[in-house]
Amino acid sequence: YLSIYLYQSCRNNSITAKGRIYPHGVTASYGEMCYHDNSLVSASLEALIQHLVPTVDYYPDRSYVFTFLLSSRLFLHPYELMTRVCHLCVEQQRSGDALLDKIRFREVAPKLVQLLTEWTETFPYDFRDERMMRCLKDMTHHVARGDEYSWRAMQQMTQRLIKRLSALGQYEEAVAALNTVAMERPASLKSKQASGQRSDVMSVCEDAFILAQQLTHIELDRLSFIGPEEFIQTFAMKDPLENHKGFFRKRKTSNLEAYINWFNRLSYLVATEICMPVKKKHRARIIEFFIDVAQECFNIGNFNSLMAIITGMNMSPVSRLKKTWSKVNTDKFEILEHQMDPSSNFSNYRTALRGATQRSETAHSSQEKIVIPFFSLLIKDIYFLNEGCASRLPNGHINFEKLWELAKQVSEFLVWRQVICPFDRDRRVLQYLVTTPVFSEDELHLASYESEGPENNMEKDSRRSLR
Ligand SMILES: *[C@@H]1O[C@H](CO)[C@@H](O)[C@H](O)[C@H]1NC(C)=O
Repeated sequence: YLSIYLYQSCRNNSITAKGRIYPHGVTASYGEMCYHDNSLVSASLEALIQHLVPTVDYYPDRSYVFTFLLSSRLFLHPYELMTRVCHLCVEQQRSGDALLDKIRFREVAPKLVQLLTEWTETFPYDFRDERMMRCLKDMTHHVARGDEYSWRAMQQMTQRLIKRLSALGQYEEAVAALNTVAMERPASLKSKQASGQRSDVMSVCEDAFILAQQLTHIELDRLSFIGPEEFIQTFAMKDPLENHKGFFRKRKTSNLEAYINWFNRLSYLVATEICMPVKKKHRARIIEFFIDVAQECFNIGNFNSLMAIITGMNMSPVSRLKKTWSKVNTDKFEILEHQMDPSSNFSNYRTALRGATQRSETAHSSQEKIVIPFFSLLIKDIYFLNEGCASRLPNGHINFEKLWELAKQVSEFLVWRQVICPFDRDRRVLQYLVTTPVFSEDELHLASYESEGPENNMEKDSRRSLR
């Protein structure tokens, strides 16, 4: 391991005293940073913060800005970071001469505005904290004293941010309202005899391709609201920094959770649709339909819906319906299952995902751009990346190689997230998919036993206890 230590202080393991503020200038800020092949590998937290602060002749590179804004929350609250960066940026212009200070701040102001713009655009949810908003406002006032142009830019940035946050609020309310509707359990669902009253999926949409398109709409809608920081906050929440408990407890990963709930809902919806019909022929037709939908999802690059459908089909109330399955041609399904086979760390799926990613990169149409990863696996990969590797080195420095890796995975997700879904929306189908009631696990088992009676004592016992 050939490390090039640019600065002496890297070797002597010195840990900067907390709260120490560097004298202004770029050189000092590099004092506690280690590089390997020109890439930052570790540094003290203080040095990393200083590295984010623009000066008259320095602006951090974009990938650093993204990586540090994303992962710094493992070590300090975004609010703390923002106040310190703003403070440093203002303070390091001070020379004691009021006129000179004003001129110097005027030079650095556009860079500070640029940094805050990147922050508000990539991590807008950080600004749901009113202290962040206050800090932004303070900076706007401060900038206003120096430079009219920067002040305008701050105003426009704030407007865009407020718009974005209000869209998020509306989305959250809409998801909550949909969940309430979906939780209502009409009598028609409780007993199978009466289930004729509930429309089934094929009466709403008979075309597997159209259904797959609508699923893709839902996936991309929900993906678009997940903040990149939610991936990291999932871990930060597990081990909250003592003084920030309140912040991390406050719905900081709610869009990510809403998305995972959607996956579960789709699995249960598929199982419900299959278990509900009274006639075997009808159940078999629904299974075949969902196999076709799964195939279309695969073709589109919508791996998340594909996996949810496969999961639904493999739930035991569905898989135990032997007589029903005997009426189904399962060739296509077996190929799809093979694609999503978990063995060898999902190697088949990972190959298919790479293929879709390449297609996306060279896409000629927006349809070819679509890549929707199997989301639980993405979370799991990021989780193990975080668990498998220490965030701090023995000398107290932050392991920046790990942060680069986290940022790489999350930024790939950001590219997938921004795809605009090219298909026409079918409101009726969408409404059905997100609101129609679905069976709970117990209800699924009961419905399944009503379709095909228990085959052995274990199943008989299970049915008895469910009743
Ligand atoms: C599975 O593959 C991913 C992606 O290549 C990798 O990050 C992860 O460490 C692997 N997990 C295991 C258990 O090998």
